[in-house]
Amino acid sequence: MDFFKWVAPAFGHFADRWSAETIEGIAEWLRPHMSGDCPKDCAILDVGGGTGAFAKRLHDAIGAQVTVLDPSPDMLRYIPAEGPVHCVQGVAEAMPFEDDTFDAVVVTDAFHHFRDQPGAAAEFRRVVRCGGGVFVEEFDPRGLMRRIVAAEKLVGEPGYFYTPEDLCVFMAANGVEGHCEKVGPISYRFFGKVTG
Ligand SMILES: C[S@@+](CC[C@H](N)C(=O)[O-])C[C@H]1O[C@@H](n2cnc3c(N)ncnc32)[C@H](O)[C@@H]1O
Repeated sequence: MDFFKWVAPAFGHFADRWSAETIEGIAEWLRPHMSGDCPKDCAILDVGGGTGAFAKRLHDAIGAQVTVLDPSPDMLRYIPAEGPVHCVQGVAEAMPFEDDTFDAVVVTDAFHHFRDQPGAAAEFRRVVRCGGGVFVEEFDPRGLMRRIVAAEKLVGEPGYFYTPEDLCVFMAANGVEGHCEKVGPISYRFFGKVTG
């Protein structure tokens, strides 16, 4: 089943799920990772960026060039062709970009959909320059999320969720050092840096 073909129209309703304060907090963390003046010399990749809602908010906050990489044409078609967000069809595990193209990658609500997470992390390290940022927003599979994890598997998605502690260990083993911050009862954010 092509899960995102069916849920894509609903994602329009989630476009505002990040408050202005949240976006500014994430932008504040990302800005020092930009290698030059924005927009000319700074570039962010939103992996699994879907309909581009988060990418657009980051573009507006930072002024960076933001590219969405996503395999689903049904999600990507919500990104206006004439808008500031560039979109590319493809998967996290085999990105169609040169080495060291980006100052940062961001991933929101998508990492658990990647079928080869070590492969995706290796690609983060390859396409982000050394010292660049890796931001991941994810759900903690414990507690309230248990049913959602099961439901995602039922609809054919991998549902490879990490706890915050395990994501930090996983990222460090893949060359991205960072820490996690809890966000409410079910979500957390990983803030990391490509170390080499
Ligand atoms: C739940 S949506 C989240 C979309 C967006 N990041 C957001 O927060 O609104 C998950 C996205 O991950 C994408 N996705 C699934 N497998 C992927 C892969 N292997 N590489 C990149 N993106 C993938 C899906 O197409 C979908 O757009």
